[in-house]
Amino acid sequence: MDTTKFFSRLDEAFPADPRSAEPVHPQWADLAAEVPGTTAVNALAMLNLAAQLMPEAECYLEVGARWGRSFVAATQDVSDKRFYALESFGPADHGGAATRADLDRTIERYAAHADTHVVEGDSFRTLTRPGVVDRPVGVYYYDGPASGTAHHLALAVIEPLLADEALVFVADATRPKIQQVHGDYLAGHRGWSLAARWDGRGVEDTRWGGGLHALVYRRPPGAPRTLSPADERRRRLQVAVRGPLGSATRRVAGKVPPIVSAPRRRLAPLA
Ligand SMILES: C[S@@+](CC[C@H](N)C(=O)[O-])C[C@H]1O[C@@H](n2cnc3c(N)ncnc32)[C@H](O)[C@@H]1O
Repeated sequence: MDTTKFFSRLDEAFPADPRSAEPVHPQWADLAAEVPGTTAVNALAMLNLAAQLMPEAECYLEVGARWGRSFVAATQDVSDKRFYALESFGPADHGGAATRADLDRTIERYAAHADTHVVEGDSFRTLTRPGVVDRPVGVYYYDGPASGTAHHLALAVIEPLLADEALVFVADATRPKIQQVHGDYLAGHRGWSLAARWDGRGVEDTRWGGGLHALVYRRPPGAPRTLSPADERRRRLQVAVRGPLGSATRRVAGKVPPIVSAPRRRLAPLA
């Protein structure tokens, strides 16, 4: 993926600085209104521009597709590239969980023209399976679980699968915790840089939501295509313990009614 070309052609998708402008085409706002989801309007336009510019010999891969809003955005007007969505269909912490049938319906409606593949399961498990993708990943969008370990692993597990030059988008990246994890990862792994940050004010921010950061990966000569032993240990812990624990917590939280505070009693002023 020619990442320099991507950044030089942002004006095809945005009439001015994307931090403060809406996309050129209203289709992204329409899509956000039609398909439930969390990826904000400007991020949808960014993902699509990246997919448009990605070479055919590479693929787009997204972790956390849910109802498919961002996934189908990437595919719009792109019929000659391959798209992978990885989704575990677990309980949701906000915005409502989706089923496989929900995602399939969205794909059928908005991406029937595209070469799409859904991989069901935990991305930290499936992405280390041989043959999970059949070509290098040129564009990667991580919109999966948001813990520190998950964000570290989001980069670690994809690194061996990335094209020699690749564009990596991370959702909700405005959160200081996520930025710290990325800073630490980039400091400890060669070939990575933070290329752009489009920060958001949270779920109410229709333009950028929780923010989108763009990282660039350029594979250094001789870089291994395997996880380091420390990252492999982290991955195993995530798959066996942290991931299931997070799902169980979300499942319980989904069943517990929100705590309603009792009306405060007015205290008589002290004499
Ligand atoms: C924030 S939502 C994704 C929203 C979607 N990209 C959109 O634009 O609306 C996060 C999704 O990640 C999925 N998820 C959580 N943990 C996962 C994992 N380990 N592997 C794959 N998907 C996961 C959840 O089921 C959820 O649907």
